[in-house]
Amino acid sequence: MPVKLYSSKVLSNRPVGPGVFLLKTIYEGAAAPGQFFMLRAWGTAEAPLLSRPISVHDCADGILCFLYEVRGVGTAKLAALRPGDKLSLTGPCGNGFPVSAVKGRVALVAGGIGLAPLLYTAKCLKNCTADLYCGFRDEPYALDPFAGLVRTIEVATDTGRFGHKGFVTDLLDAAAYDCVITCGPEVMMEKTAKSAMRAGVPVYVSKEAKMACGIGACLGCSFETPMGRKSVCKDGPVFSGSEVYAL
Ligand code: FES
Repeated sequence: MPVKLYSSKVLSNRPVGPGVFLLKTIYEGAAAPGQFFMLRAWGTAEAPLLSRPISVHDCADGILCFLYEVRGVGTAKLAALRPGDKLSLTGPCGNGFPVSAVKGRVALVAGGIGLAPLLYTAKCLKNCTADLYCGFRDEPYALDPFAGLVRTIEVATDTGRFGHKGFVTDLLDAAAYDCVITCGPEVMMEKTAKSAMRAGVPVYVSKEAKMACGIGACLGCSFETPMGRKSVCKDGPVFSGSEVYAL
């Protein structure tokens, strides 16, 4: 689908975890799992200057959902949105996870708000058995919608109050899967991707970056890879492990 600017309206926007919100907004178009939109709920002359890139959490029946964490001025303004408020959406941007090519046993591995794109991804996987591994600081959130979409949900927390105390990567045996899909903090994704690459298992990572244009025009999100410089917004945000990591 071509990238377009949409004037949307907020349906709901509620907290679902510590500093984490679920935003539902009107959108009649399509999107692929792993793609993102640039969100803006403030005027062009108002701070912050840049729109906020947020990945698609779900997309169905004319409703687009975003799961996002409040991290600064832009996301705080998003968190203040009420039903009926106007919201500009630019997208869908970037590529997505290659869900139609994935078969067999799939590990979905999330760190914190990296969970966001994995719900729609789990919904779009066909002929697959998926397990979800997710790491949180403390109390888990936004896991209920995965019921019925994944076979098991394994949780790791920093505090140990829920699930395994430690890293989510401690729980994953990548060799037990036909494909690994991951999103979250860079260190976690690199560890996950390298364990899959060592086991010869295809792995896809969804990178995060500060973005200005979101369409590959400003080079603001470019980074060095073993295959030269790539932009997160246009070449990604989804990359195969070997595109971005060398063993
Ligand atoms: Fe402009 Fe990626 S944000 S090139």
